[in-house]
Order: sequence, then structure tokens, then C-alpha cells
Amino acid sequence: MENKSMRGKFTGSIGFVLAAAGSAVGLGNIWRFPYLAAKDGGGLFLVVYLVLVLTFGFALLTSEVVIGRKTAQSPLTAYKILNKNWGWLGVIACIIPVMIIPYYSSIGGWVLKYLATYITFNGTDAVADGYFTGFITSQWAPIIWFGIYLLATTFVVYKGVNSGVERLSKVLMPILLIMIIGISIFSLTLSHTDESGVTRTGIEGLLIYIIPSFEGLTFNKFMVVLTDAMGQLFYSISVAMGIMITYGSYVKKDTNLVKSVNRIELFDTLVAFLAGLMIVPAVYTFMGREGMSAGPSLMFISLPKVFEAMGIAGDIIGIIFFITVAFAALTSSVSLLEAIVSSLMDKFKWGRKKATIIAAVFTFIVGVIVCLGYNVLYFELTLPNGSVGQILDVLDYISNYVLMPVVAIATCLLIGWVLKPKAIIDEITIGNVKFGRAGLYSVMVKVVAPILLLVLLLQALGVLNF
Ligand code: PHE
Repeated sequence: MENKSMRGKFTGSIGFVLAAAGSAVGLGNIWRFPYLAAKDGGGLFLVVYLVLVLTFGFALLTSEVVIGRKTAQSPLTAYKILNKNWGWLGVIACIIPVMIIPYYSSIGGWVLKYLATYITFNGTDAVADGYFTGFITSQWAPIIWFGIYLLATTFVVYKGVNSGVERLSKVLMPILLIMIIGISIFSLTLSHTDESGVTRTGIEGLLIYIIPSFEGLTFNKFMVVLTDAMGQLFYSISVAMGIMITYGSYVKKDTNLVKSVNRIELFDTLVAFLAGLMIVPAVYTFMGREGMSAGPSLMFISLPKVFEAMGIAGDIIGIIFFITVAFAALTSSVSLLEAIVSSLMDKFKWGRKKATIIAAVFTFIVGVIVCLGYNVLYFELTLPNGSVGQILDVLDYISNYVLMPVVAIATCLLIGWVLKPKAIIDEITIGNVKFGRAGLYSVMVKVVAPILLLVLLLQALGVLNF
């Protein structure tokens, strides 16, 4: 009992929904979703994504939140309570945030560096060739920015559930939404004529983003769209790494979980869609269809060029954009650290302060190694999915592409076949809450989700190739 009283509780469903949405809305929503949508036939990707949100995503998110509330434990100990033979799953689920947070926070440090560049009106510097590479390959700067970012994350977690993550999310998430809507509207008003005399507008970019393109669509291409959407969704709602279990464990029994899950998904999907609305038209207007590229180069190389082309407005938009990204990233890294800290507290009965400091020091050490991966410890490793990467990419690959699908598949099997979906449905319907999609939920966890996740895993391992 002593341990239970130390655990925090969200004050109500709004605190919970915003904290969980804060975790879900992150770097993935802002740079990966728009890029995938532009690559995968615009509206076609959006439709596939939406269908998956309402079926696959809904089943995974519901499962985790309910496991948390039912056991009132974080992942490291929750799975064992559900079934004493499944404790190992909690260990893997907990290792994932431990692997992700060092590199996620290193990227958070890059965002702060760019924010500082724009706030001091030096955005033009960011356009120079080699600015980004010069920064990440320098030895000290990335470590310092990463350190500042991690300190902010640690501070929030140290403060506890209510004064920390709940309060932060209640303030940052509404601001984030307003800023993203503001930039999206601005993006639609853009128009630009390039040297060859071709004029492109934000509205044309919008049409590329939302109208489904079936051009040259084959079965294999559709599978690429499907797996891209699934992988993105899976990462975006922060499942399979213990976070939603942890947040679920702070939810009171009288909170309606059906409504909460719907709202979290709505928030996450809305922000992803709006991120596309702010980025795709702007990039298209100034750089054409070829401007959309994946990963860090979109956010740290292409967008600065777009801001530069906007003139004075770009200086302001650059500041607002990087504040938005910093907010999105911070509420996500807080959730990663919270899952680890909460697990340490539940497992070893440590106090929050001790657990937070130990987890932060460990993260700092690993994060420094990640930063050094671009200079002192540089190597090029070809991963099984064909991409070439450094330490950051290796940690990302193992956690996201291998361990997360494994945890999600195992969670579905545990719920679907060992405990049976009724265990989850009983918890959700406490207090006569109506769970309209109970039938869909059961089919999803038992059969559909594990199969889809297996396809994703086999693709990541290079066994399946579309
Ligand atoms: N859901 C976050 C995003 O979309 C990513 C994330 C993963 C955040 C894991 C925290 C933990 O970017």
C-alpha cells in the first residue's frame, strides 16, 4: 500500500487526455507524417491512415491504457500482475523508452539549437550549405544543447505527475494547436514564382496533399502505403513502449476511457494532419514536388530554405515553427522519462526524486555517446532494412522497428488469447461506461492487429519487401 500512495493520479480526464496527447504528438507528427503523405499519394495515405486510426490504433491504445488502469502499475511490473508468466514482456517494454530517450533528446537538442538561431534572427545562417552537418559533427555544441534539453525534461518529471507532466501538457498543448493552425493558414496563402517563371501556390500544394492519387497504383505500392501508414500510426500514438500503460495507471476509476482514447487519437491525428497542411504547401510553393525529403533533412535543411524564401515573414514563422516543434518534442520526451521513472519506482520502491536522477544520469551518458556518433565515434552501418546509419539510427532501428512490434504483438496475444478481451472490456465498462466498439476491439486484438504487426516486423527485418 505504501507504494500505491506514492503513485500520482491525474486530476481528471482533461489532464490525462492532454498528457497522453502530449506524448503522442511529437517529432513524428511534424516531420514524418507530412513527408509520408506527400510520398504516398496524398489523400490515399490520409484515408488509409484514418481507417487504421479507428481500428488498429484504437485497439492498441485502448489495450495499453486499460492495462495501466487495471493494474495501477507501470510496464515493468504491470504485465507480471496480469499473468505471472508474462513479466518478461514488461522488461522489454521498459527497455524501449530507455533506448529511445537518449536519441530523442539529442534531436530535441538540435531543435533548441535551431530555435536559438531563429530567435536571435540568424535564420539566414541555417540556410548555408553544411550548416546542419557542421553543427551535428561538431564535438561540443550538440552535447550542450542535448544537456539543456534533457535538463528541462528531467525537471518536469522530477516535479511529479500533477505539477509536472499534467500541468505542462495543459499549458503547452493548446498553445501548440493554435500555433500550428496559424502557420497552416499562412501556408495556404503563399505564392511564389521561381527563376524559370513558374508560379506555384499554397492552394496547389494543398490539393497535392489531400486529393488521393491513384496514379500507377499496384498491389505492391498499396502495401507500401499501408505499411507506411501503419508504422507511422504505431509510432505516433506512443504505444508498445509502456508509456500509455504508465499514464493509464494514473487515471482514476471514474474516468471514461472510451471517450479519452477517442480524444487522444483525435488530437494526435489532427496535429499530424495540420502539420502536413503547414509543411506540404509551403515546401511545394518554394521548392516544388521534389522539395519533400525524409527525416532530419526536411526539418533542418529544407524548411530553413523555405523560411528564407518567405523573407521577413519567414523569420517570425521560423521562430513559431521551432517553438511548436520544441513543445511537441518536450511533452514526448517527458513521457519517455516518466515511463522509466515510474517503472523504477514501482519495481524498486524508490522515491520519485531518486528514480528521476538515476534515470537522467544514465540517459545523459548514453545521449553523449549518441552525439559523439557523428564525430569521434562515427561509423556507417547498413541495417537489415537497407538504410545506412550511425548510433542514433541503430538505437532507432532496434527500438522502433524490432522491439516495438514484438512488444505490441505479444501484448495482443496476451490479451486476445491468454487473458481474453473480456478482461479489458470489463475494466473499460466499470461504472456502466458504454463500449460500442467491443466487438471490433476483440477481433482487432485477437487477429487483425497481430497479423498487421507481423507484416511490419518482417518488413523491418528485411524478410518481406514490397
Ligand atoms: N509519438 C511521438 C511522435 O509522434 C514519438 C514518441 C515515441 C514519443 C516515443 C515519445 C515516445 O513523434
